[in-house]
Amino acid sequence: MPTPIILDCDPGHDDTFAILLAAGSDRVDLRAVTAVAGNHVVEKSALNARRVLSLTGVTGVPVAAGHAGPLLGEHAAPRQGDQYGGPDVHGNSGLDGWDFAEPTVPQDERHAVELMISVLTESTEPVTIVATGPQTNVAALLLAAPHLRPKIREILCMAGSTHRGNFLPYSEANVLFDPEAASIVLNSGVPVTYCGLNVTHQALVTAEVLAEIGSVPRLGEAAEALLRFRSGTYDRIWGMPEPPLHDPVVVAMLIDPSLVGCQDANIVVELHGAFTRGATAIDLAGVTDRKPNARVALELDAPRFWQLLTDTLRKLA
Ligand code: RIB
Ligand code: CA
Repeated sequence: MPTPIILDCDPGHDDTFAILLAAGSDRVDLRAVTAVAGNHVVEKSALNARRVLSLTGVTGVPVAAGHAGPLLGEHAAPRQGDQYGGPDVHGNSGLDGWDFAEPTVPQDERHAVELMISVLTESTEPVTIVATGPQTNVAALLLAAPHLRPKIREILCMAGSTHRGNFLPYSEANVLFDPEAASIVLNSGVPVTYCGLNVTHQALVTAEVLAEIGSVPRLGEAAEALLRFRSGTYDRIWGMPEPPLHDPVVVAMLIDPSLVGCQDANIVVELHGAFTRGATAIDLAGVTDRKPNARVALELDAPRFWQLLTDTLRKLA
């Protein structure tokens, strides 16, 4: 039976591949896509989610826009320019590199949190939430509808890092953009998985990967163009011409748990550090007395991950 999921995201190039993987896998029952501010403002996240879903040809998946900034408001956000995103990985549209057609997938009128509540309420079985952007919508859901927590099977997050960060030396973007939300999710009592930079940096878009994805009928040209744009920005910002593709890794581990080695550990989010706000202190060695509150992804079988992604794109084509 396919796993019912809500995908909460901020597309974004790597979120795009998370959407494609979720929409194309027969092991996933994609019940909703919800957008959040992160890589760009929420209006662009929602529009881009609609563009990507329209490209897949998959219909009947509602898309709604959610929170426009972190739970505590804009003053809690990192100050890295006048728009969300800091270093500009994704371009002005939030998804530069391909000229998308007008989306055929409409925007659901509801707020993302209302849509999540409807999906959970109507579902006869618990639903998995996959979060590939800042966790603002997810935390807001947990606060607004605590009675629905038993209807959430687990929350899988592309978030954090066991080592270094990206948008700050020790802070990963999705946690940095809303550390309080991440902390609420981790302390919710719902099973949480963290798929962080330490594992997503094992999913590198090499020349071979680009060629393989580019060869997919129908979707390949757009997919390759988007990845080439991302390679350019990653090279300029981080000196990485073969960039990591973070967000689809967390969907892949839902589809095939054998792709990723994990360990239970305690995670706390730094909420106050002068230089480390949004850092994730992940106690892999068990040196604190804090109990594990998450499953932490550590090792990715990268060849099999790319195989899954390209096979799924071929199915969608
Ligand atoms: O740090 C990587 C994460 O930040 C990814 O989800 C990417 O889309 C950006 O939002
Ligand atoms: Ca993202």
